[in-house]
Amino acid sequence: MKIGIDRMAFATTNDYLDLVDLATARGVDPNKFTIGIGQDRQAVVPASQDIVTLGATAAKKLLTPELAKRVSTVIVATESGIDNSKASAIYIKHLLGLDDFTRTVEMKEACYSATAGIQFAKGLVALNPQETVLVIASDIARYGLNTAGEVTQGAGAVAMLISRDPHILSLEETTVSYTKDVMDFWRPVYASEAMVDGKYSTNVYIDFFKQTFTRYQQITGRDLADFTAIAFHLPFTKMGKKALDALLADRNDEVADRLRQHLTESQAFCRQVGNLYTGSLYLGVMSLLQNGQLKAGDRLGLFSYGSGAEGEFYTGILEPGYQNYMNNVKEDLANRHQVSVAEYEEMFNGQLGMNADDVEFDTRNDPLPFVLKGQKNHQRLYERK
Ligand code: COA
Repeated sequence: MKIGIDRMAFATTNDYLDLVDLATARGVDPNKFTIGIGQDRQAVVPASQDIVTLGATAAKKLLTPELAKRVSTVIVATESGIDNSKASAIYIKHLLGLDDFTRTVEMKEACYSATAGIQFAKGLVALNPQETVLVIASDIARYGLNTAGEVTQGAGAVAMLISRDPHILSLEETTVSYTKDVMDFWRPVYASEAMVDGKYSTNVYIDFFKQTFTRYQQITGRDLADFTAIAFHLPFTKMGKKALDALLADRNDEVADRLRQHLTESQAFCRQVGNLYTGSLYLGVMSLLQNGQLKAGDRLGLFSYGSGAEGEFYTGILEPGYQNYMNNVKEDLANRHQVSVAEYEEMFNGQLGMNADDVEFDTRNDPLPFVLKGQKNHQRLYERK
């Protein structure tokens, strides 16, 4: 039985910051951001959006009424959760109007946990082929104003349906996971911005990619020529280049050219949005599938990485007509609204974060179908527009 990704949808906020503007405001050469880091724009988050509203918006884009009836489990992967106890999957299940006889849970391991969600969903479907699992990767990446990580912030959600006979990507059997206790990035429960040793995290990432890919080769006997493309977790798009270069080194043959070309295609959407944490790898996959010319039967490699740290390398085979089972991300990104650096800073500081007060947000200008109206008695108040 084939099991894999049946549908995908991406959602982000309506506002973005041009990173040339940010570079100018911070007194940095814009080429450092656009070439050195590889980012052009960054999603900016109004107070009326959080990981619940973004996750619900992405899921709404892929759920027809018929598909909604089939969802048996909702897994939300996030590292910017809004509650230390209650799963954001419960709020999302409610906003989407899913059946009460649904299993809901939230998972965490930095940027990695959506991959665990997909693997666990695959296991559920293997045990019971009637299961259809909604996996949502939803995050807001915050490093803080005037920090080295500021340029790598971002926000958004990727929703995926995992089922038998998938329309996009059938997952293959072999996966390689690799975990070590490393302090490259973490966020204590009292902090709303991440602590990060940025340069160290890029080195750990590359090491984990090499470790998992080498083990994968040993197990399967496959080599780079067996892959049409490899998609990477992209906290910033240069990271994917660093990882691929670490493997290809000076190789300049047809295989290397192909992998480099497809890497560029996978980076296109991430350049426009920034880091999605859990969703970045999967936005990269959507970018590859919508900007590249891949065909049914092509094998994709996926490298997932979460600081702390865990990596996983796994693969899938593209299904015929995969293009018809995703929303048009290019079109959605073209319709966003640009904000100035001053507006971005005000919005950054206006997030609910750790604030325990009662607040009410003005949601009139927020075009997304789900909004955070505010907070009362320590409870977040959501609205379906
Ligand atoms: N023109 C072109 N490139 C330039 C440049 C310019 N004027 N100035 C600098 N650069 C290049 C640097 O050479 C460097 O490239 P390289 O990494 O290929 O060597 C790149 O821009 C970044 O410069 P650097 O000085 O290393 O940046 P930084 O000290 O500001 O830190 C990060 C960059 C990514 C470490 C930082 O943004 C961060 O901590 N991000 C969050 C952590 C993260 O995302 N980790 C990823 C693993 S999960």
